[in-house]
Amino acid sequence: MILLDGKKAANEIKDEIKKEVLFLKKKHNITPHLVAILVGSDPASKTYVMHKVAACKYCGIDSSIVELYEGIEESVLLNKVIELNNRKSVHGIIVQLPLPKHIDSRKVTNTISPEKDVDGFHPLNVGKTVLGLPSFLPATPKGIVELLRRYSIQTKGKKCVVLGRSQIVGLPISILLGQKGDYADCTVTLVHSKTENIEEEIRQADILIAAIGKPGYVKKVMLKKDAVVVDVGISRVDNPKAKKGYTLMGDVDFDDVKDVCSYITPVPGGVGPMTVVSLLQNTLSSAKGLIS
Ligand code: GUN
Repeated sequence: MILLDGKKAANEIKDEIKKEVLFLKKKHNITPHLVAILVGSDPASKTYVMHKVAACKYCGIDSSIVELYEGIEESVLLNKVIELNNRKSVHGIIVQLPLPKHIDSRKVTNTISPEKDVDGFHPLNVGKTVLGLPSFLPATPKGIVELLRRYSIQTKGKKCVVLGRSQIVGLPISILLGQKGDYADCTVTLVHSKTENIEEEIRQADILIAAIGKPGYVKKVMLKKDAVVVDVGISRVDNPKAKKGYTLMGDVDFDDVKDVCSYITPVPGGVGPMTVVSLLQNTLSSAKGLIS
């Protein structure tokens, strides 16, 4: 079994981004700027945003966090997004999800200007992605494809099973891997809560992308020998013995499956760091004016 070390790959990518940012500053006097909007005080969301900010800092990308309180009115949030859309010095805007229940997340992501939508959630970017046109790809699917590329994992003609149909991960990764091209060209099956015989479907997978948010769900008995396993899940599981009182766990029971798969991403240190650097790559592309 070979570990798909997302942390190592992400560190290499961060150094590549850093060089490009320096060049952009020197040659064109442009410093990419990412703004993250964080609503409420969900500890996991806060941690994710902090990771994004720290990675920006390392790469020389400016970043700001707009912190809004849990009970903020939707209209105030929408106006904040519009204000950032109009600010020339801002190249990327993200609104960390999930949002409080009284806010319509779709309305919010639809309000972000498609040219600054570095999360790739706006319908225009989703549509362009489906058509294979230049667009901001959502960070986690983009990071997964990049990780497969960095480890030269052959995907052409392989049977790929995507577990979970979320708009952020499952749906877009199934589209990307089914498209024509390198690190794509898969035969994709998207399985979800209404799929019959889920385990039988999973057992067909040469490549499994697990993104359902159920800690430890995938077991050895569900896997084909030598499957490539990409674990997108990252749940906080109570653990009184751990310093923080919880342990991070993926959707895959790592210890159970590690001897049957050929490659596997660890949690943490697999997909997570790749998501962060993909967001930075999108922000850099935006600052360069590459996507419009
Ligand atoms: N919540 C979980 N993943 C993401 C992501 O990629 N972007 C945003 N904005 N929120 C998230």
